[in-house]
Amino acid sequence: MTLRALFPTLIYTDRLRARGWQALNARLLRECRQLKEDDAAGRRWSARNYAGGYTSYASANRMHENSPTFAALARELDRHVARFARSLRFDLTGRPLAMTDCWVNLMGTGAVHGLHLHPLSTLSGTYYVATPTGSPGLKLEDPRLERFMAAPPRSGARQGSAWVTLRARPGQLVLFESWLRHEVPVNRVAAERVSISFNYSWF
Ligand code: NI
Repeated sequence: MTLRALFPTLIYTDRLRARGWQALNARLLRECRQLKEDDAAGRRWSARNYAGGYTSYASANRMHENSPTFAALARELDRHVARFARSLRFDLTGRPLAMTDCWVNLMGTGAVHGLHLHPLSTLSGTYYVATPTGSPGLKLEDPRLERFMAAPPRSGARQGSAWVTLRARPGQLVLFESWLRHEVPVNRVAAERVSISFNYSWF
């Protein structure tokens, strides 16, 4: 007999770089917190749409063009994204993938980011700046979930669930195809979880 695992969903995780990420994260953390201070429109938007947290998703979402620190991060992310695109066998002849959006997320106690995907993008991901012990990871949903209908439950830890949560660690990044639904569960600890999210597109 032959069993084939067809149509796999690839998820890329890696350290941003082997050395020096702590100094970069210290600068990013300062800038993320300063941005929250400066960005009144973002604070208003977050109060309505991101309870318990601050995100610059709707107000300062091209940080790679606004800050040399974020630009340095983006250059390193480009390298990881190119590697992921090769693993996905994307044919990008004449249409390179480029970062289109880059924003910050500060999740205080009680903040949550419900299930969503990133429409109009090709690849998305997050880089972790500060992830206090006990703060949430990234929960990914099996993209086949809505078709399972009468499928029986499966045994085994990962096989048994339609969701897999990846731990968030500072200095690490995760990349996935933008159609993959995901969420950040509620932050239950009394410390701020800080991450930088981004989209790449090829058109
Ligand atoms: Ni997202």
